[in-house]
Amino acid sequence: MLDPIEFIQNASSITKKSMNRLKLKANPFSEKPIRGNTKFFVGRTTELMEIADILGAAQYGSVANAAIVGTKGIGKSSLLNVIYYAAKRQNHWAVELEASQITPRQFLIQLMHGIIRDNLFTMDGTLSTDYLEHSQKIIDIYRRLDSYSDKTPVHYPREKIERDLDYLLNNVKEDGKLCIILIDEADQFARKGCLRLLQFFHSFLYEDGILAFFAGSPTLMENLTKVSPAMRDRLPKIINMPPLSNEESYDLILRRLKDAQIPKAKDYEPFTENAVDVIVEECDGIPRKIIMTCSEAISIGLKKGLNEIDEDIVKMAMKKLGISVGHQILNHLTPAQSKIVKALASFGGKSTVTELAKVLNNSPGTVGTHLSDIYEMGYIYKERSGNNVYYMLSKELNDVLIDKDNEDLD
Ligand SMILES: Nc1ncnc2c1ncn2[C@@H]1O[C@H](COP(=O)(O)OP(=O)(O)O)[C@@H](O)[C@H]1O
Ligand SMILES: [Mg+2]
Repeated sequence: MLDPIEFIQNASSITKKSMNRLKLKANPFSEKPIRGNTKFFVGRTTELMEIADILGAAQYGSVANAAIVGTKGIGKSSLLNVIYYAAKRQNHWAVELEASQITPRQFLIQLMHGIIRDNLFTMDGTLSTDYLEHSQKIIDIYRRLDSYSDKTPVHYPREKIERDLDYLLNNVKEDGKLCIILIDEADQFARKGCLRLLQFFHSFLYEDGILAFFAGSPTLMENLTKVSPAMRDRLPKIINMPPLSNEESYDLILRRLKDAQIPKAKDYEPFTENAVDVIVEECDGIPRKIIMTCSEAISIGLKKGLNEIDEDIVKMAMKKLGISVGHQILNHLTPAQSKIVKALASFGGKSTVTELAKVLNNSPGTVGTHLSDIYEMGYIYKERSGNNVYYMLSKELNDVLIDKDNEDLD
């Protein structure tokens, strides 16, 4: 019998050796949202310039809300995240929200909660000294919001919520500051069930000092307009995200590699020149595709104990990833994440943290953390219904996990 401790020791030192052979300290192509860490951020000068214009004009009273549109994996969430940090740097209020099928009332609660937590409180969760003169009222509001989300029945009617929000925006927020609202996965609003919310938005988006960015699919505007034609003129700017240029694609790969290479590695090592050319050629300038392909190629290289990754390995990686987008996603998830999406599939593709935690025999906290990671990568959706939040498989995962033709998944 093999000693299990020794087994782990051996197996992990083999990975380390294989990593070393590839002249890497770690696989630098794990997919994570940018979260203020912009050292891997490439290109997007046109889009950044447009955003700077929008912010600049809004500060001087000419507010033009914008939609950021593009295909999956093109970098919309990353751009929203850059706007978030840029807004904070300029001392504006900023809040990032996820669109979900909710009522105006729930939206307001989510919005106000985010505004207070992200802008009025300091890192350690105390009220910033800038707002001390309003402390009593702010803390009252925050408490009401908190007890609302705790499911304790509180009487907090929509009119009162609107009055509180109005107080925050018009009394607490300093003149000259903007409240920048960033809404990701905004396609979720383009449903009949969200009509009331969009109608509310329509009037809300007209207020001074509020600037909104909606991020979504290339058909976002069309879809929103179908549900609420009036939305169209409230989102006058459309920022279309094109694929990265070849040069930017090379830059993306290089920056990630440089961060993880061992000191004596050079250029694109462990990738051969041809390998990088194939990746750039085949990934169509879509950052997520580039990252996933590089990551998969490195995994194959590690398993095979190679010391370089040539175009054959890259093609192998693409073949493996290319089976279907759903399979690509599954391959990309960690084992824990993959267990969770499979459990979600066992509920027919829609479930809550509580239910999932129960079948997985895990704590709701852990399951919740994994779910938000998977959500951030855009592989599952969220929907609010009453006090419950439901997670749903994306179409791609639904296709492989539920509507599959007897495919073997493991
Ligand atoms: N401009 C960029 N430079 C470098 N990496 C990027 C850039 N845009 C996106 N990425 C990376 O690509 C992946 C997908 O981006 P994301 O913003 O989640 O796309 P979307 O929200 O459009 O689906 C993420 O890992 C992100 O870090
Ligand atoms: Mg996204």
